Order: sequence, then structure tokens, then C-alpha cells
Amino acid sequence: ARTYVVTGSASGIGATTAQILRDRGEKVIGIDLRNADVEADLSTVQGRVDAAARATKLANGTIDAVIACAGISAPVPATISVNYFGVVELLDGLLPALKTSDAPRVAVVSSMASLQPNSPEMVEAALAGDESTAREIAQNLADQDPQIGYLAYPSSKRALSRWVRRASISDDYAGNGIPLNAVAPGTVLTPMTAELLSTPEGAKMVDANVPMPLNYHQPPESIANLLIWLTSVENTHLAGQVIYDDGGADATLRGDDI
Ligand code: NAI
Repeated sequence: ARTYVVTGSASGIGATTAQILRDRGEKVIGIDLRNADVEADLSTVQGRVDAAARATKLANGTIDAVIACAGISAPVPATISVNYFGVVELLDGLLPALKTSDAPRVAVVSSMASLQPNSPEMVEAALAGDESTAREIAQNLADQDPQIGYLAYPSSKRALSRWVRRASISDDYAGNGIPLNAVAPGTVLTPMTAELLSTPEGAKMVDANVPMPLNYHQPPESIANLLIWLTSVENTHLAGQVIYDDGGADATLRGDDI
């Protein structure tokens, strides 16, 4: 069996991924705020450091794959902290244990929203590793108007997708034989979207931003199974990709612009 660390394991895409892996007999170490093997807050530096240390200990020093699903979509500074720094800094902490695996793999969850309007300043601050500036920008936007505050979410995902692009060919990842990729979902039926999709007006708004001509809203399994393949032994050369697993939303919105 392989040892997987799955963040956001208590709900939605992360919970489904963890369950499929466990059913296949793999060892899963879940990280989440509550109801997880490692309970930690990935919005804080200390939470990331603690989570990496405790997961590494539970794995006896060797982690074969990390699947990072934890994320939030609120118009608050915590969104850039969880969705970007909660992935990148946690992975920094888990890298030593990944390096000891025969077939280490990493996959993270970005979003269709990474293509939506965002704050380039917030994206740059994140990629520069400057969490306090990124949070300040998010707070300033939220203070202007909650509608503008929502830019924190697409900004966090744009930064994460770009980080995957860069890091995948670095000494840390390619240099250590670790394929690193992102999956960008469309609209997934999980607790994150349940409230918005519960009214016709909410669903209409979501669908206007994320049109899904193929099979409409997707179950978490549609993302989980791809994350599992990306982190399997079979994936030897797929690296640095942001894979839009989104019912055709990206093809609809970007068209030929690729
Ligand atoms: P969810 O809300 O069902 O699950 C997210 C999990 O992350 C929860 O268990 C939550 O406790 C955990 N989490 C949140 N903040 C945390 C923190 N500070 N520390 C540790 N854990 C924390 O959401 P869902 O839908 O499963 O989302 C998973 C990922 O997929 C997220 O990164 C989300 O941005 C992304 N995504 C979701 C889409 C959707 O339509 N549901 C679309 C595109 C991307």
C-alpha cells in the first residue's frame, strides 16, 4: 500500500478522495480542521508546520503522495492563506518525507475560477511568498465591497496554478522525480456550493460564470479519480499541468485561446 496525505479530508472532494483510496487499501493520513487524523489550521504558519510534522510522524517518515484539497471561498484574507500558503508551505514541510518514497507524487486542487478576473497584486504577493502583503490586499478589497472581496478566491487559485507551473520544473519537484500537477474543477456538488446552488437565482449565477455543456454539475468522484491517477505510480511524465476537469467550461470560455 502507498501512504497518501489528503488535506480537506473531512468534506467534499477531499473526503471522497480519502474514501476511495482507503477502499483500495491505501494508507491515508487526513488533514483538516476537525474530524481528521491530523487536526490543524492551514490558514496559519504554525498550523502548517504542525500538520507537516504530525503527518510525517504518522507516515513513519515516508509519504508517497500528497493530495491538497483544503480550501475556502469566502471574501476574506483567510482565503489566500488557506488556498495558496496552506498548500505551498505545507508541501515545503512534507517534501523531506516525499523524497524518501520510491514514487512520490503531488496533486493540488485549483479551480476554473483561476481564469476569472482577479487581483494581479495579490497573485504577485503570494508568488513572492509575502503572506502579510497578500492578506492586506485581500482585506483592502473586502473593505471596499464584499463583491470585490470575492477576488481573493480567483486570485488564490491563479497564484496556485502559476506556482504549480513553476515549481513542477524546479529542483524540488522535477529534480526529485516528483510529478506535480493541479486539477481545476468546474462546479462540484459539495458542501462548498450547496447553499449557492439551493436557489434558482444562485444556480443561474454559478452557471453564467461556469457553463458546463458536458454532463452539468459534477460529483466529487469526477475530481477524486483524476487526483488519484495523477498521484499514482502510473503517472511518470505528466507534470506542471492545470487540468480543467470541468464539463467543458474552460473550452466554452477560452475557446481557441490556448
Ligand atoms: P468543502 O468545503 O466540502 O471541503 C473543504 C475542506 O477544507 C473542509 O473539510 C474544510 O474544513 C477544509 N478546510 C478549510 N479551511 C481549512 C483550514 N484552515 N485548515 C484545514 N482545513 C481546512 O469544499 P470542496 O468543494 O470539497 O472543495 C475542495 C477544493 O476544491 C477547494 O480547494 C475548493 O476551492 C476547490 N474547488 C471546489 C469547487 C466546487 O465547486 N466545490 C470548484 C472548484 C474548486
